Amino acid sequence: MPRWRSVSSRNGADPVVVGSGVGAPRGRHPGWPARLGPLGVRAGTISLRPVRWRDAMAWSRVRLRDENYLRRWEPDVPGRWNERHAPTSWPVQSGGLRAMARRGCTLPFTILVDDSFAGQLTLGNVVRGALRSAWVGYWVDSELAGGGVATGAVALAVDHAFGPVGLHRIEATVQPDNLASLRVLYKLGFRDEGLLLSYLEVAGSWRDHRLLAITREEAGHGLVARLQRDGLAHHP
Ligand SMILES: CC(C)(COP(=O)(O)OP(=O)(O)OC[C@H]1O[C@@H](n2cnc3c(N)ncnc32)[C@H](O)[C@@H]1OP(=O)(O)O)[C@@H](O)C(=O)NCCC(=O)NCCS
Repeated sequence: MPRWRSVSSRNGADPVVVGSGVGAPRGRHPGWPARLGPLGVRAGTISLRPVRWRDAMAWSRVRLRDENYLRRWEPDVPGRWNERHAPTSWPVQSGGLRAMARRGCTLPFTILVDDSFAGQLTLGNVVRGALRSAWVGYWVDSELAGGGVATGAVALAVDHAFGPVGLHRIEATVQPDNLASLRVLYKLGFRDEGLLLSYLEVAGSWRDHRLLAITREEAGHGLVARLQRDGLAHHP
Protein backbone atom coordinates (compact mmCIF):
# COMPACT_ATOMS: atom_id res chain seq x y z
CA MET A 1 0.00 0.00 0.00
CA PRO A 2 1.23 3.50 -0.65
CA ARG A 3 2.23 5.29 2.56
CA TRP A 4 0.53 8.49 1.46
CA ARG A 5 -2.28 9.39 -0.85
CA SER A 6 -2.63 12.04 -3.46
CA VAL A 7 -4.89 12.43 -6.44
CA SER A 8 -4.60 14.75 -9.30
CA SER A 9 -5.48 15.88 -12.72
CA ARG A 10 -3.53 12.89 -14.03
CA ASN A 11 -3.72 14.29 -17.52
CA GLY A 12 -3.07 17.87 -16.55
CA ALA A 13 -0.16 19.12 -14.58
CA ASP A 14 -1.67 20.41 -11.35
CA PRO A 15 -1.97 17.73 -8.67
CA VAL A 16 -4.27 18.23 -5.68
CA VAL A 17 -3.32 16.72 -2.33
CA VAL A 18 -6.13 14.97 -0.50
CA GLY A 19 -4.10 13.35 2.26
CA SER A 20 -2.01 14.97 4.94
CA GLY A 21 1.19 13.51 3.59
CA VAL A 22 1.75 11.80 6.94
CA GLY A 23 4.30 9.07 6.50
CA ALA A 24 5.72 10.54 3.32
CA PRO A 25 9.48 10.93 3.21
CA ARG A 26 10.76 14.39 4.16
CA GLY A 27 13.43 16.37 2.38
CA ARG A 28 14.97 15.38 -0.92
CA HIS A 29 13.90 12.23 -2.67
CA PRO A 30 15.60 10.33 -5.45
CA GLY A 31 15.78 12.28 -8.69
CA TRP A 32 14.60 15.59 -7.22
CA PRO A 33 15.31 18.41 -7.78
CA ALA A 34 16.53 17.86 -11.34
CA ARG A 35 17.20 19.60 -14.64
CA LEU A 36 16.57 17.43 -17.70
CA GLY A 37 17.82 17.96 -21.25
CA PRO A 38 18.76 19.78 -23.35
CA LEU A 39 17.16 17.97 -26.27
CA GLY A 40 16.67 19.34 -29.76
CA VAL A 41 13.24 18.94 -31.41
CA ARG A 42 11.51 20.70 -34.33
CA ALA A 43 10.38 23.65 -32.17
CA GLY A 44 13.82 24.30 -30.63
CA THR A 45 15.89 23.12 -27.69
CA ILE A 46 13.83 21.80 -24.80
CA SER A 47 14.79 21.37 -21.17
CA LEU A 48 12.90 20.70 -17.94
CA ARG A 49 13.54 22.25 -14.55
CA PRO A 50 11.54 22.48 -11.28
CA VAL A 51 8.64 24.97 -11.32
CA ARG A 52 9.58 28.35 -9.84
CA TRP A 53 7.72 31.33 -8.43
CA ARG A 54 9.22 33.50 -11.15
CA ASP A 55 7.31 31.50 -13.83
CA ALA A 56 4.22 33.46 -12.75
CA MET A 57 3.99 36.01 -15.56
CA ALA A 58 4.79 33.61 -18.42
CA TRP A 59 2.55 30.87 -16.97
CA SER A 60 -0.35 33.27 -16.57
CA ARG A 61 0.04 34.82 -20.04
CA VAL A 62 -0.02 31.44 -21.80
CA ARG A 63 -2.75 29.87 -19.64
CA LEU A 64 -5.06 32.88 -20.09
CA ARG A 65 -4.49 33.01 -23.86
CA ASP A 66 -4.90 29.22 -24.26
CA GLU A 67 -8.05 28.77 -22.16
CA ASN A 68 -10.07 27.22 -25.00
CA TYR A 69 -7.18 25.00 -26.07
CA LEU A 70 -6.57 23.66 -22.56
CA ARG A 71 -9.95 23.63 -20.87
CA ARG A 72 -11.54 20.83 -22.87
CA TRP A 73 -8.85 18.39 -21.75
CA GLU A 74 -8.20 19.43 -18.15
CA PRO A 75 -10.15 18.36 -15.05
CA ASP A 76 -12.67 20.79 -13.64
CA VAL A 77 -11.34 22.85 -10.76
CA PRO A 78 -13.47 25.26 -8.70
CA GLY A 79 -13.12 28.94 -9.53
CA ARG A 80 -13.12 31.05 -12.67
CA TRP A 81 -10.37 30.43 -15.21
CA ASN A 82 -9.25 34.08 -15.22
CA GLU A 83 -8.93 34.15 -11.46
CA ARG A 84 -7.22 30.78 -11.20
CA HIS A 85 -4.68 31.84 -13.82
CA ALA A 86 -3.89 35.34 -12.65
CA PRO A 87 -0.16 35.78 -11.91
CA THR A 88 -1.08 36.14 -8.24
CA SER A 89 -2.45 32.56 -8.23
CA TRP A 90 0.86 31.03 -9.24
CA PRO A 91 2.77 31.34 -5.94
CA VAL A 92 0.12 29.25 -4.17
CA GLN A 93 -0.03 26.68 -6.98
CA SER A 94 3.71 26.39 -7.50
CA GLY A 95 4.30 26.47 -3.74
CA GLY A 96 1.87 23.55 -3.34
CA LEU A 97 3.63 21.61 -6.09
CA ARG A 98 7.05 22.25 -4.58
CA ALA A 99 5.82 21.18 -1.13
CA MET A 100 4.54 17.92 -2.60
CA ALA A 101 7.86 17.49 -4.38
CA ARG A 102 9.68 17.82 -1.06
CA ARG A 103 7.49 15.05 0.34
CA GLY A 104 8.39 12.81 -2.59
CA CYS A 105 4.86 12.64 -4.03
CA THR A 106 5.43 14.65 -7.21
CA LEU A 107 8.07 15.91 -9.63
CA PRO A 108 6.67 19.19 -11.04
CA PHE A 109 8.64 20.50 -14.02
CA THR A 110 8.44 23.63 -16.12
CA ILE A 111 9.09 22.91 -19.80
CA LEU A 112 11.42 25.42 -21.49
CA VAL A 113 11.99 25.86 -25.22
CA ASP A 114 15.11 27.85 -26.04
CA ASP A 115 15.11 28.84 -22.35
CA SER A 116 11.60 30.35 -22.49
CA PHE A 117 8.53 29.05 -20.63
CA ALA A 118 6.67 26.55 -22.85
CA GLY A 119 4.41 24.50 -20.55
CA GLN A 120 4.41 22.07 -17.65
CA LEU A 121 5.07 18.39 -17.11
CA THR A 122 4.36 16.63 -13.83
CA LEU A 123 5.19 13.15 -12.64
CA GLY A 124 2.54 12.67 -9.98
CA ASN A 125 1.28 10.19 -7.43
CA VAL A 126 4.75 8.72 -7.01
CA VAL A 127 4.34 5.43 -5.22
CA ARG A 128 7.33 3.43 -4.06
CA GLY A 129 7.66 -0.02 -2.49
CA ALA A 130 6.66 -2.94 -4.68
CA LEU A 131 4.63 -0.73 -7.07
CA ARG A 132 7.17 2.00 -7.98
CA SER A 133 4.83 3.87 -10.30
CA ALA A 134 3.69 7.39 -11.17
CA TRP A 135 1.50 9.13 -13.74
CA VAL A 136 2.67 11.74 -16.22
CA GLY A 137 0.64 14.87 -17.11
CA TYR A 138 1.60 17.72 -19.44
CA TRP A 139 0.48 20.71 -21.43
CA VAL A 140 2.33 22.84 -24.00
CA ASP A 141 1.87 26.43 -25.26
CA SER A 142 -0.43 26.28 -28.33
CA GLU A 143 2.02 28.44 -30.29
CA LEU A 144 4.47 25.52 -30.20
CA ALA A 145 1.90 22.85 -31.15
CA GLY A 146 3.20 20.09 -33.36
CA GLY A 147 6.82 21.00 -32.70
CA GLY A 148 7.70 17.83 -30.83
CA VAL A 149 7.85 19.60 -27.46
CA ALA A 150 5.53 17.31 -25.52
CA THR A 151 7.07 14.20 -27.07
CA GLY A 152 10.58 15.31 -26.13
CA ALA A 153 9.53 16.41 -22.65
CA VAL A 154 7.76 13.12 -21.87
CA ALA A 155 10.78 11.18 -23.17
CA LEU A 156 13.13 13.12 -20.89
CA ALA A 157 10.80 12.69 -17.90
CA VAL A 158 10.21 8.97 -18.39
CA ASP A 159 13.93 8.26 -18.77
CA HIS A 160 14.50 10.23 -15.58
CA ALA A 161 11.72 8.31 -13.81
CA PHE A 162 13.19 4.95 -14.80
CA GLY A 163 16.73 6.16 -13.97
CA PRO A 164 17.48 8.39 -10.97
CA VAL A 165 13.93 8.31 -9.57
CA GLY A 166 13.93 4.51 -9.58
CA LEU A 167 10.39 3.88 -10.82
CA HIS A 168 9.17 0.91 -12.84
CA ARG A 169 5.89 2.00 -14.47
CA ILE A 170 4.55 5.31 -15.80
CA GLU A 171 0.87 5.76 -16.65
CA ALA A 172 -1.04 8.40 -18.58
CA THR A 173 -4.78 8.86 -18.99
CA VAL A 174 -6.15 10.56 -22.10
CA GLN A 175 -9.60 11.33 -23.45
CA PRO A 176 -10.19 9.15 -26.55
CA ASP A 177 -10.59 12.21 -28.78
CA ASN A 178 -7.38 13.89 -27.61
CA LEU A 179 -5.54 12.71 -30.70
CA ALA A 180 -2.50 14.94 -30.20
CA SER A 181 -1.86 13.56 -26.72
CA LEU A 182 -2.45 9.96 -27.80
CA ARG A 183 -0.01 10.49 -30.66
CA VAL A 184 2.64 11.77 -28.22
CA LEU A 185 2.33 8.63 -26.12
CA TYR A 186 2.13 6.15 -29.00
CA LYS A 187 5.22 7.70 -30.62
CA LEU A 188 7.10 6.96 -27.40
CA GLY A 189 5.91 3.36 -27.09
CA PHE A 190 3.22 3.66 -24.40
CA ARG A 191 0.73 0.77 -24.59
CA ASP A 192 -3.04 1.15 -24.49
CA GLU A 193 -4.38 -0.77 -21.47
CA GLY A 194 -8.06 -0.03 -21.84
CA LEU A 195 -10.85 2.43 -21.23
CA LEU A 196 -11.54 3.97 -17.80
CA LEU A 197 -15.27 4.71 -17.70
CA SER A 198 -16.49 8.09 -16.39
CA TYR A 199 -13.00 8.62 -15.08
CA LEU A 200 -12.58 12.37 -14.72
CA GLU A 201 -14.86 15.40 -14.65
CA VAL A 202 -13.86 17.62 -17.55
CA ALA A 203 -15.82 20.58 -18.92
CA GLY A 204 -18.84 19.67 -16.78
CA SER A 205 -19.10 15.95 -17.65
CA TRP A 206 -17.57 12.74 -16.38
CA ARG A 207 -15.41 11.62 -19.30
CA ASP A 208 -14.05 8.22 -20.24
CA HIS A 209 -10.26 8.11 -20.52
CA ARG A 210 -7.85 5.68 -22.15
CA LEU A 211 -5.20 4.29 -19.80
CA LEU A 212 -1.76 4.05 -21.36
CA ALA A 213 1.41 2.83 -19.68
CA ILE A 214 5.05 1.97 -20.19
CA THR A 215 7.39 -0.06 -17.98
CA ARG A 216 11.10 0.20 -17.50
CA GLU A 217 11.67 -3.01 -19.50
CA GLU A 218 9.61 -1.67 -22.40
CA ALA A 219 11.61 1.57 -22.45
CA GLY A 220 14.73 -0.44 -23.28
CA HIS A 221 17.69 1.88 -23.79
CA GLY A 222 15.46 4.90 -23.14
CA LEU A 223 12.83 7.00 -24.86
CA VAL A 224 15.23 9.82 -25.78
CA ALA A 225 17.44 7.27 -27.53
CA ARG A 226 14.34 5.95 -29.29
CA LEU A 227 13.42 9.44 -30.53
CA GLN A 228 16.98 10.04 -31.70
CA ARG A 229 17.01 6.71 -33.52
CA ASP A 230 13.74 7.67 -35.25
CA GLY A 231 15.11 11.11 -36.24
CA LEU A 232 12.59 12.93 -33.99
CA ALA A 233 15.14 14.49 -31.62
CA HIS A 234 18.85 15.27 -31.48
CA HIS A 235 21.49 16.43 -29.05
CA PRO A 236 21.72 20.22 -29.57
C1 LIG B 1 -1.30 17.30 -26.23
C2 LIG B 1 -0.19 18.35 -26.28
C3 LIG B 1 0.57 18.33 -24.96
C4 LIG B 1 0.77 17.98 -27.43
O1 LIG B 1 1.85 18.89 -27.40
P1 LIG B 1 2.80 19.10 -28.69
O2 LIG B 1 4.05 19.72 -28.20
O3 LIG B 1 2.04 19.75 -29.76
O4 LIG B 1 3.07 17.56 -29.09
P2 LIG B 1 4.10 16.99 -30.17
O5 LIG B 1 4.39 18.04 -31.19
O6 LIG B 1 5.24 16.39 -29.44
O7 LIG B 1 3.27 15.79 -30.80
C5 LIG B 1 1.93 15.99 -31.20
C6 LIG B 1 1.62 14.97 -32.29
O8 LIG B 1 0.21 14.91 -32.46
C7 LIG B 1 -0.11 15.16 -33.82
N1 LIG B 1 -1.42 15.80 -33.83
C8 LIG B 1 -1.77 17.03 -33.41
N2 LIG B 1 -3.10 17.21 -33.58
C9 LIG B 1 -3.57 16.05 -34.08
C10 LIG B 1 -4.86 15.62 -34.47
N3 LIG B 1 -5.93 16.40 -34.36
N4 LIG B 1 -4.98 14.36 -34.99
C11 LIG B 1 -3.92 13.55 -35.08
N5 LIG B 1 -2.66 13.90 -34.73
C12 LIG B 1 -2.51 15.16 -34.24
C13 LIG B 1 1.00 16.08 -34.28
O9 LIG B 1 1.10 16.09 -35.70
C14 LIG B 1 2.19 15.38 -33.63
O10 LIG B 1 2.52 14.17 -34.27
P3 LIG B 1 3.75 14.09 -35.31
O11 LIG B 1 4.98 14.48 -34.54
O12 LIG B 1 3.75 12.67 -35.74
O13 LIG B 1 3.46 15.06 -36.43
C15 LIG B 1 -0.75 19.77 -26.54
O14 LIG B 1 -1.56 19.71 -27.68
C16 LIG B 1 -1.56 20.34 -25.38
O15 LIG B 1 -1.00 20.94 -24.47
N6 LIG B 1 -2.90 20.14 -25.43
C17 LIG B 1 -3.78 20.66 -24.39
C18 LIG B 1 -3.58 19.97 -23.04
C19 LIG B 1 -3.56 18.48 -23.17
O16 LIG B 1 -4.26 17.90 -23.97
N7 LIG B 1 -2.72 17.84 -22.33
C20 LIG B 1 -2.60 16.39 -22.32
C21 LIG B 1 -3.77 15.80 -21.62
S1 LIG B 1 -3.69 14.00 -21.68
